[in-house]
Amino acid sequence: MRILVTGGAGFIGSHLAEALVGRGHDVVVLDDLSTGKKENLAEALRQIEFVEGDIREDGVVKKALRDIEAVAHLAALISVNESMKKPLLYHDVNSMGTLRLLQHSLKSGVKRFVLTSSCAVYGDPAKVPTSETDPVGPLSVYAASKLSAEEYCRTYDGTGGMSVAVLRLFNVYGPRQTFSQYSGVIMQFAERVRNGKPPVIYGDGRQTRDFIFVRDVGRFITAAIETEASGTFNVGTGRSVTIRRLAAVVLNVMGREDLKPIFAPPRPGDIMYSEADMSRAVKELGIKPEVALKEGLRETIPPIR
Ligand SMILES: NC(=O)c1ccc[n+]([C@@H]2O[C@H](COP(=O)([O-])OP(=O)(O)OC[C@H]3O[C@@H](n4cnc5c(N)ncnc54)[C@H](O)[C@@H]3O)[C@@H](O)[C@H]2O)c1
Repeated sequence: MRILVTGGAGFIGSHLAEALVGRGHDVVVLDDLSTGKKENLAEALRQIEFVEGDIREDGVVKKALRDIEAVAHLAALISVNESMKKPLLYHDVNSMGTLRLLQHSLKSGVKRFVLTSSCAVYGDPAKVPTSETDPVGPLSVYAASKLSAEEYCRTYDGTGGMSVAVLRLFNVYGPRQTFSQYSGVIMQFAERVRNGKPPVIYGDGRQTRDFIFVRDVGRFITAAIETEASGTFNVGTGRSVTIRRLAAVVLNVMGREDLKPIFAPPRPGDIMYSEADMSRAVKELGIKPEVALKEGLRETIPPIR
């Protein structure tokens, strides 16, 4: 199949592009390199077609969509904090950008469209584990922009012979994830430990998250592209860990169990519990997550020498 991966030079997109090439697909990547890097694609760059540009530019999108049968739409701005400072930009890229891409995809005869959304759309979940039918309640502009992108996708599902699936990714980690003031808890812990400092836990550390390894996410997106299943699917492991336990595993993997975590006041807006109910995705996409947390962390954050 000839597949367009938007955001394919990013953390998750680059792993997906590699997985698709590995399965014999023709891959086109569209990325404006705003946070992504060509180096992320390394070897795969020779086997894919790379289009540098913005998903909001009609000409660029039309060019990237030439002869495309399926679209994996990952390009997005992804920082919750930044979205509160630049709400219109987040709406423009994440919501409007998705709507434009859907419109162009339909016109150019795309048969399958997969959006990566986020568990952030659940806000503070009504129940844990959370299933796709549970209520949504975005707590940030980022989450609202992803939910609106989801709704546009659902609107287009089944029109013009195009089927659409929405994947709500939980906390994704793995190699090529970048460290910044906005990065997730694993990168924050690892950066401190690398600098000889103990991890900082906000609150009592009993809060839980569902961490899924990036290659497993790539397998789920690939499965979604290759099936006909429409609808919304959680993509996590279905097994959450506490932040205390996460800190202990990071310290173990990095060989610095002598550094004991320190505790700081809880951050406003942080939710307490998060865990995916994976029954629908496992049943309809026909695969399960494979990589255990410790194994994935060993690949993500090598021990300090
Ligand atoms: N990382 C996570 O834990 C996580 C969790 C839930 C959902 N997601 C979703 O997964 C997707 C990929 O996230 P990621 O973690 O790989 O982030 P990332 O920032 O590494 O990747 C996003 C990519 O999109 C590109 N991009 C941004 N704006 C663009 C534009 N206007 N035009 C073209 N390209 C543009 C960036 O250059 C980057 O390569 C996003 O849709 C995100 O919402 C990620």
